[in-house]
Amino acid sequence: MYRQSFLALIASLVGLCIAATPAEWRSRSIYFLLTDRFARTDNSTTASCDTSAREYCGGSWQGIINQLDYIQGMGFTAIWITPVTEQLQGDTGDGTAYHGYWQQKVYSVNSNYGTADDLKALATALHDRGMYLMIDVVANHMGYAGSGDSVDYSIFEPFNNQEYFHPYCEISNYNNQTDVEDCWLGDTTVSLPDLNTTRSDVQDLWYSWIGSLVSNYSADGIRIDTVKHVQQDFWPGYNDAAGVYAVGEVFDGDPSYTCPYQNYLDGLLNYPIYYPLLGAFESTSGSISDLYNMINTVKSECADSTLLGTFVENHDNPRFASYTSDYALAKNAIAFTILSDGIPIIYAGQEQHYSGGSDPANREATWLSGYDTSSELYTFIAVSNAIRNHAINADDGYVTYKNYPIYQDDTTIAMRKGSNGTQVVTVLSNLGESGSSYTLSLSGTDYNAGQELTEVYTCTSVTVDESGNVPVAMASGLPRVFYPTESLSGSGLCQ
Ligand SMILES: *[C@@H]1O[C@H](CO)[C@@H](O)[C@H](O)[C@H]1NC(C)=O
Ligand SMILES: *[C@@H]1O[C@H](CO)[C@@H](O)[C@H](O)[C@H]1NC(C)=O
Ligand SMILES: *[C@@H]1O[C@H](CO)[C@@H](O)[C@H](O)[C@H]1NC(C)=O
Ligand SMILES: *[C@@H]1O[C@H](CO)[C@@H](O)[C@H](O)[C@H]1NC(C)=O
Ligand SMILES: *[C@@H]1O[C@H](CO)[C@@H](O)[C@H](O)[C@H]1NC(C)=O
Repeated sequence: MYRQSFLALIASLVGLCIAATPAEWRSRSIYFLLTDRFARTDNSTTASCDTSAREYCGGSWQGIINQLDYIQGMGFTAIWITPVTEQLQGDTGDGTAYHGYWQQKVYSVNSNYGTADDLKALATALHDRGMYLMIDVVANHMGYAGSGDSVDYSIFEPFNNQEYFHPYCEISNYNNQTDVEDCWLGDTTVSLPDLNTTRSDVQDLWYSWIGSLVSNYSADGIRIDTVKHVQQDFWPGYNDAAGVYAVGEVFDGDPSYTCPYQNYLDGLLNYPIYYPLLGAFESTSGSISDLYNMINTVKSECADSTLLGTFVENHDNPRFASYTSDYALAKNAIAFTILSDGIPIIYAGQEQHYSGGSDPANREATWLSGYDTSSELYTFIAVSNAIRNHAINADDGYVTYKNYPIYQDDTTIAMRKGSNGTQVVTVLSNLGESGSSYTLSLSGTDYNAGQELTEVYTCTSVTVDESGNVPVAMASGLPRVFYPTESLSGSGLCQ
């Protein structure tokens, strides 16, 4: 009895050292990458990678280790990597499983990316830098090269029997939740055998698996794929068994559909914000008010907007620059991503203004940009993460303060976040690169009359006027971010 509780105590102490809680993740900033597409063990910057071929391009876990300076140089404090499990082999007609979402043997790792020891070495290399590792996981399905009515279930590990799965049917109606949960994703070339996650044996296997995955590879968090395709009551047990922060993909922009899943998981990818964020900045005629309103809707409908993952690009949606090549618009979208609520997520290649459209075009090899640390968006992201990281260090309340939109007009939105005294005020515009210059007199910032502020992208000093308004000099459609000058020291910005 004594021995048992002693061991439990040790286990929980060890767990405290490695596993990261939702509260610890709030202050992180995530760089998301496809392991196959980010970096190769040989450090090549020329190895070809034809996205349309959907083949393995040679990225590896050791390659990521080699390029951690590049990631950390932008101020990121965590990475999210695509699934690590062993996949279906070969070319299917829908391409290979280079992305990692077609697993067959979940106790083995995908040898295209390296060995289990390489993955452990990646975790160690990240932890040595004080960074976190988030691993992508799939519980909804396995992957099979062939139609759903011809699956050889004996090849799966575990789940090597048809009885673990839902009977084959393709999802035909996305408005029918039973269909979404019980029928299968995929097509007749690659089917995604859909586990019956209401079975207690399936639950037991998955809960035990996720705990051992997190522990074997010292993962600090998990990103969960296809969450809406599994019944909600599966998730709390899974999240608990993981013992770390979990962010789930509920691929739906309707907050009344998506937010309730946060009652079952720590966090969600913020798809409700994604669509109006893209909509506001993808052109010079986007709707600012849709974005303004959605900030408030998500705050009220989701359980905790500060635990959502905020993004404007990922591997499932066309790149931002596929809509517009305008750098000013790209910067505004990035500034929102990093300085609004939740955990920012930037997708590898975004910092190089990659412009691939729909999957698979949006999965370009990062190495082909030569890991350029002087590119316009690389340095812009570095400043954006730096001001956020500094605000977090300077203000215990920054990450839990819910981003408050204070101003909007047809082309401008302003928001404030952080405790009074050290609040960050972000002013965004969708006028684009050719936008004219004008000065906005911004009220509602809660700065004091006469206070000295610094605009951190231009390192310009500004004095709050006697009425408490901030004169915001807008030009060329660029974003502006203000911070009290006296509190800026230690940030490395504008010194
Ligand atoms: C790749 O880069 C890493 C980190 O800079 C270096 O340690 C390693 O020797 C390089 N490998 C090759 C094959 O050049
Ligand atoms: C919803 O989908 C299920 C499973 O495919 C099906 O049995 C049911 O009839 C559908 N319900 C409606 C209202 O279409
Ligand atoms: C899933 O498993 C449960 C529990 O064994 C069973 O009652 C149910 O019929 C199965 N669902 C389907 C769609 O086969
Ligand atoms: C973790 O390691 C244990 C012990 O070697 C092994 O039994 C288990 O299958 C591993 N889990 C995963 C997900 O690799
Ligand atoms: C912040 O300061 C403003 C202006 O001084 C005040 O109206 C507001 O109530 C303060 N907010 C908090 C949370 O203290």
